Amino acid sequence: MKIYVTEDYQAMSRKAANILSAQVILKPTSVLGLATGSTPVGMYKQLITWYEKGDLDFSQVKTVNLDEYVGLEPTHEQSYRRFMQVNFFDHININPANTNVPDGLAADPAGECAWYNEVIRKMGGVDLQVLGMGRNGHIGFNEPGNAFELETHVVDLTESTIEANARFFSSRDEVPRQAMTMGIKSIMMARKILLMVSGEDKADAVKAAFTGPVTPQVPASILQLHPYVTLVADKAAMSKMEA
Ligand code: F6R
Repeated sequence: MKIYVTEDYQAMSRKAANILSAQVILKPTSVLGLATGSTPVGMYKQLITWYEKGDLDFSQVKTVNLDEYVGLEPTHEQSYRRFMQVNFFDHININPANTNVPDGLAADPAGECAWYNEVIRKMGGVDLQVLGMGRNGHIGFNEPGNAFELETHVVDLTESTIEANARFFSSRDEVPRQAMTMGIKSIMMARKILLMVSGEDKADAVKAAFTGPVTPQVPASILQLHPYVTLVADKAAMSKMEA
């Protein structure tokens, strides 16, 4: 595993944007696995800046997002589809038909997940998967205790995740109780993984994931077994790792 420790969130974002840019420049037809949440926002901003300068071309890139809430329409303020449009896709020259996010309104969420797995397979798999990590070590919506061997599937959100995401909704009651997420197996099938972590509130999760046992209790710990992981974390997130 390659580890880059940065001074702060901004530097983390820039480093991650560098890694993603290199991927797109070296392979313009890359399949990128993308994440939402507060962590990658700065990276998307940086990529947009470089795109506007003419340094990046996303016209042949394909994307597949990690997850989506069950029950939210694509235009809902808090849907992950909308997040991706607002924070990234609307600002670059990506072909909308090449961007994939599970459909939160699918009548049959389990069937939607099976279809999503097919989409990923037909694209030839993910070249670079971007990940953030929850304070409980979750990646995607794979919560502690979930099985490691699943591809995209429907999950019930834990109380701690509902709590953490409540800040984005007008009330806690509005936070969806279920999501569709690429599973740990889907994530591990990506050729390369870029995990971004920022902030002291993630320091325990970073320590547990990378110095503890590989266990479903800490979903990100599985990354210890992936052959090509790059961790880009700021000092605060790394503050509990031994020097
Ligand atoms: C987002 C996702 C989640 C987040 C994680 C961290 O697509 O899959 O696993 O990466 O919850 O969220 P933030 O970045 O908001 O701390």
